[in-house]
Amino acid sequence: MRKAVVAGNWKLFGTQASMQEIDALREKLNAIDNAQTCDVMICPPATIVMSAVDRAKNSVIKIGGQNCHTEQNGAYTGEISAEMLRDAGASHVIVGHSERRTQHQETSDQVRSKAAAAMTAGLVPIICVGEAEAVRDEGQAEQFIVEQICSSMPDGANGENVMVAYEPIWAIGTGRTPTPDDIGIIHKAIRNGLEGVMGEDEVKKLRILYGGSVKGSNAKSLMGVDGVDGALVGGASLKADDFYAIISEAYLA
Ligand code: PGA
Repeated sequence: MRKAVVAGNWKLFGTQASMQEIDALREKLNAIDNAQTCDVMICPPATIVMSAVDRAKNSVIKIGGQNCHTEQNGAYTGEISAEMLRDAGASHVIVGHSERRTQHQETSDQVRSKAAAAMTAGLVPIICVGEAEAVRDEGQAEQFIVEQICSSMPDGANGENVMVAYEPIWAIGTGRTPTPDDIGIIHKAIRNGLEGVMGEDEVKKLRILYGGSVKGSNAKSLMGVDGVDGALVGGASLKADDFYAIISEAYLA
């Protein structure tokens, strides 16, 4: 059985003041004895990764980055490497989020290199894929996603050293979500598509998250879809109460 993961992506939100949300989440999780039902992760901005790691100590909360460079070191002003995130105490890093792919023109080739760099540094990359609305309207979502995930997957990836997040672009921050059936179809297609890349046994262990407008009120139905192993949450991860509501609705009820 795959253990579910509920991961929060704070995007460009968060300062030292936000540590109170990590404190509150830690207290909530420490108060229940079935916190091991799912893995819990927060991916804050890089400036507060170290503080977040410190505040998440003695809890099940893991801390991840939101992006990393393809290289570990070099003349790349303003960049952050996987090795640096690891050094700061992170265990995971999101790569290929659609906001990076669209706002920074990241290609699947680059995403694959970033995921490889993360693995080299000892981080688990969370490799994101997602289709634009036009692609879905044309009936091409399944084919598009399989092609995107296969070209974003680094050599050496297996069921445990990477994770995948399916996030339809049109569902991110919009309050709209695909139907559970549509999500199930894509998650199945991803798993089938990756069978040729990492083999049947590994793909069975691979955790594939859904992301895009996940909140407490829809968490149970979205996380209940066959093949969905957790959530990547944006807006609803910023406040401990909202984030905890997702965890409890989906996995503690
Ligand atoms: P959202 O964002 O939950 O605010 O839709 C999800 C994401 O971008 O990871």
